[in-house]
Amino acid sequence: MKKISISALLLPALSAALTAAVVITVTASDPETPENTVSGVDLDNGVESVAYRQAVAAAKARKPKVTVIGTGGTIAGVATSRSSFTDYRAGQIPIADMVGQLQPELGNVADVTTVQFGNKGSGGYTIAEFQALTLAVQKALKDSDGVVVTSGTDTMEEFAYWLDLTVRDQKPVVMTGAMRPWAAGTVNGPQVIGADGPANLYNAIVLAASQATYCYGTVLMLGDEFHAARDVTKTSAYRMDTFQTREFGVLGWIDGPNIKVGRAPSRVADCDLKQRWLTPFNVAKVAPEALPRVEVVTSYQQAGGEAITAFADAGVKGIVTAGTGAGGVSAAQTAARTAAAAKGVVFVSTTRTGSGSVYGGSTTQPIVAGDDLLPQKARLLLLLSLAFAPGDVEKVRQWVTTLGNPEWHTVD
Ligand code: SIN
Repeated sequence: MKKISISALLLPALSAALTAAVVITVTASDPETPENTVSGVDLDNGVESVAYRQAVAAAKARKPKVTVIGTGGTIAGVATSRSSFTDYRAGQIPIADMVGQLQPELGNVADVTTVQFGNKGSGGYTIAEFQALTLAVQKALKDSDGVVVTSGTDTMEEFAYWLDLTVRDQKPVVMTGAMRPWAAGTVNGPQVIGADGPANLYNAIVLAASQATYCYGTVLMLGDEFHAARDVTKTSAYRMDTFQTREFGVLGWIDGPNIKVGRAPSRVADCDLKQRWLTPFNVAKVAPEALPRVEVVTSYQQAGGEAITAFADAGVKGIVTAGTGAGGVSAAQTAARTAAAAKGVVFVSTTRTGSGSVYGGSTTQPIVAGDDLLPQKARLLLLLSLAFAPGDVEKVRQWVTTLGNPEWHTVD
């Protein structure tokens, strides 16, 4: 659990929100502000952090620089016709072309440069490529005020949480994509009817430029809503409002030139203490081969234990169980888990229900309770924990239990 001593709390404005994790901000639009600028973020928004205020003030004082890193997905997709929302090839259009189509309006928001990191479906990326993406984001942030990463939506929540756990810069990182392809016929073809990609890309750049999510870590923006990377999940194969944060709700909204922030991830409390804000996961310091295999196993009626045994025999270092209800696994899986744990495999116990917490874990076996982390998120956190503390189960337990926990806790 994240423990924040009220007396030590550096952000007094946040103390009122300790129990509900509902923190800050209603932004005001400036009647003087022309459309398509980002000046709708009100400096006096209640975030009592010097670094945050400076970042927002700088974004108002001069046009921000934003780098957009393209990785592919439906947003870069080419459909067979303008009315085809489901028959398309993902990952076709270069990111520079998509950004180019948002001009001249985008020129009022930010100076934008692009990086083509890849152009394929989100599910095709490896963990080694995730590591390289972190380094690409950090490189871009050296010269930019914020970064937008486009990806397919299928595993966008994993891209986002990985970046949230690994990027060592407090500047905004915004993930976006689309549920409908961008163009019809060819990469230069007309826009698909009702394509959501252009508006999503535009608003993601608006959000990154504004600095409204400075110190929030990575956020995911689709359909004018932005979510915390740790908690957001894709809930529908086709619907445009597929991304939901089930227990906590969105972080905020982009309403034209106004950015409204309803709550903040708890790590924003450490905004002025960068060393505390950073996670321990500096992936520049590990070789891609040192990133261990970690897998997910789901439980269900009379689930067999063979998958766990096979993963352990294959050299997998960690397994996340997506258990029934509050994390239960079948009798056969329990036996297989005990045997694999005796061989050193570390387990994180989560629920397959999509929300709610798993508590407890084991003090005698390497079984860690995953709290309310979704299985696919717990898998990334376990993977990084094992990479940075191989063999140190108590350190892994501590990191899995505390890092990025969205709760606000008082100790006095
Ligand atoms: C993908 O995730 O690459 C395909 C689906 C999408 O982008 O929505």
